[in-house]
Amino acid sequence: MNGPAPVLDVVDLVAEFPMGHGHVTVVDGVSFSVAPGASVGLVGESGSGKSITAMSVVGMIPAPGRITGGSVRFRGQDITHASGKSMRALRGKEIGLVLQDPMTALNPVQRIGPQIVEAIREHQDVSRSGAAARAVELLGQLGIPSPERRFHEYPHRLSGGMRQRVVLAIALANDPSLLVLDEPTTALDVTVQAQILDLIKELRTRVGTAIVLITHDVGVVAEVCDDVIVMYGGRVMEHAPASLLLADPLHPYTIGLLGSVPSAGTKGEKLATIPGAVPSPADMPRGCPFSNRCKNVMTKCEERPPVVQFPDGRSVACWLHGDAAGVPGAAVRHV
Ligand SMILES: Nc1ncnc2c1ncn2[C@@H]1O[C@H](COP(=O)(O)OP(=O)(O)OP(=O)(O)O)[C@@H](O)[C@H]1O
Ligand SMILES: [Mg+2]
Repeated sequence: MNGPAPVLDVVDLVAEFPMGHGHVTVVDGVSFSVAPGASVGLVGESGSGKSITAMSVVGMIPAPGRITGGSVRFRGQDITHASGKSMRALRGKEIGLVLQDPMTALNPVQRIGPQIVEAIREHQDVSRSGAAARAVELLGQLGIPSPERRFHEYPHRLSGGMRQRVVLAIALANDPSLLVLDEPTTALDVTVQAQILDLIKELRTRVGTAIVLITHDVGVVAEVCDDVIVMYGGRVMEHAPASLLLADPLHPYTIGLLGSVPSAGTKGEKLATIPGAVPSPADMPRGCPFSNRCKNVMTKCEERPPVVQFPDGRSVACWLHGDAAGVPGAAVRHV
């Protein structure tokens, strides 16, 4: 593929947790890349492996989980098994991060303003007062009322939504080249959400930040994401440009997820509920992980589906499309 070198390039990523005498695979052959200024959305039901994928990418997979296959490259550099120290140096400066549980990202015994100031001064040559002014500005831009006063509060004095925005302020503070956001606007009201999405979009255009965004909100996907990856059972079920995916989903799982949602996707619209539950990683059906819940299941689905790549940029891991070898320009990759 042509175009600028990707900021992030993930190839066949596999992550596992030990279990008993064996292990469970929770990320199973995930590949994607994000170009400067581009954004990829990760969607899928709870337990499908979105957060572990995001954490693996930034070197934060919780122990005893580990990456057992594939690679992660950040601006051309292989960081798959980079040391904790070198990853800490990247995070905060070049990689901005908002994890799903924002509380753990803040120091409970330090006021929030100084935490943002430190994050800025660790990576930029600015005075304390300059950094403080920037911190207050960021808090304001993130919709925190009376940011000068909030600057002096401890994290426990703030609501969950405010803490989430403080973590966002730290993630955005150093104009990162990659931003990894796991449900960054959950629990925030629509107005604040819109403000945050605007800031993220501004960073994309001004800095060329590449974005990986995990969300349950179809409206957010439609508004922010160029591409969408639909995950289930640790695998990529479908990967397509957002507009195509929302208008014409290919995988029965994607169709189920988008079920009740109109293709335009209005903000706040959550993904649909599919009958049945995501099996635990130890209990995944053979072949296609979705086969036991799929309306279109066939005998063939006991075998792992190939990844079918269409010329319009969509790819889908499903036997329904497994005969796409006849489609001009389509490629079928057996994994
Ligand atoms: N620390 C852990 N130890 C063992 N298994 C884990 C651990 N963390 C996550 N898992 C398992 O890995 C799988 C993927 O979890 P993950 O948190 O990535 O899901 P998710 O798609 O982010 O879900 P949600 O939408 O609920 O955030 C799940 O089956 C989960 O039970
Ligand atoms: Mg998650």
